[in-house]
Amino acid sequence: MGIALRYLFLRCYKIFFALMFNLILFGPPGSGKGTQSVNITHTYKLQHISTGDLLRDEVSRQTPLGVEAKKYMDQGLLVPDEVVIGMISSKIDESPNARGFIFDGFPRTKAQAEALDKLLEFKQTQIHLVLALEVPEDELTRRLVGRGETSGRSDDNLEVVVKRIKEYHAKTEPVAGYYHTHGKLERVKGDGTIENTFKLLSKEIEKYLLPA
Ligand code: AP5
Ligand code: MG
Repeated sequence: MGIALRYLFLRCYKIFFALMFNLILFGPPGSGKGTQSVNITHTYKLQHISTGDLLRDEVSRQTPLGVEAKKYMDQGLLVPDEVVIGMISSKIDESPNARGFIFDGFPRTKAQAEALDKLLEFKQTQIHLVLALEVPEDELTRRLVGRGETSGRSDDNLEVVVKRIKEYHAKTEPVAGYYHTHGKLERVKGDGTIENTFKLLSKEIEKYLLPA
């Protein structure tokens, strides 16, 4: 289909069904979820929700939630499901007119994935696409330990990075299977440059949504 025709088709489809477009950017620690979310948010005008950023904000304000969450984050462990699900729920409610959401670092467990499905169903929408960034483990470690030299992030040191990757394999990787079963998962190579990875992600997104 020509680009003009495809654009017209997507526009009409979207107006007719008043659809939102909801995307999950999935992948291990350091795979580029945050970096690419910024590019995607800018190009497609989606509302970015990062549970890591929300938790770090709570930690920096020393709220009771932040004080509790920090104990897990500093050990490279996942924060309990009920805490992050509650945060996501209020964040979605804050943006009733969003064109759609990009979820970064959420869901990380099957319980979180099921809770997200319920929250979106309540809003008569759903997850449309899950893009899973694939990056070799030595590159993940190199990126995160490298960032830790300047970022001040207390979990960007070799000892905690190893634990974060282990936690990812144990609890989060199976979530990809959940979305694969629902026909929503696409795997994307994330070990190229930031620009090339963005092109690969855009190619998948534009099967559903054109730049705003
Ligand atoms: P979170 O903040 O989500 O961290 P993470 O997923 O472990 O890892 P990052 O966010 O650091 O990696 P990223 O994939 O976003 O990569 P980035 O773009 O930053 O979570 C932190 C903690 O919070 C968790 O451990 C847990 O305790 C808790 N938490 C969060 N969500 C939770 C949930 N849902 N449930 C329970 N607990 C939760 O890039 C990394 C670095 O690589 C950067 O320096 C970047 O510049 C660089 N880089 C990116 N792309 C490239 C590239 N293509 N080439 C070279 N360098 C690149
Ligand atoms: Mg991140």
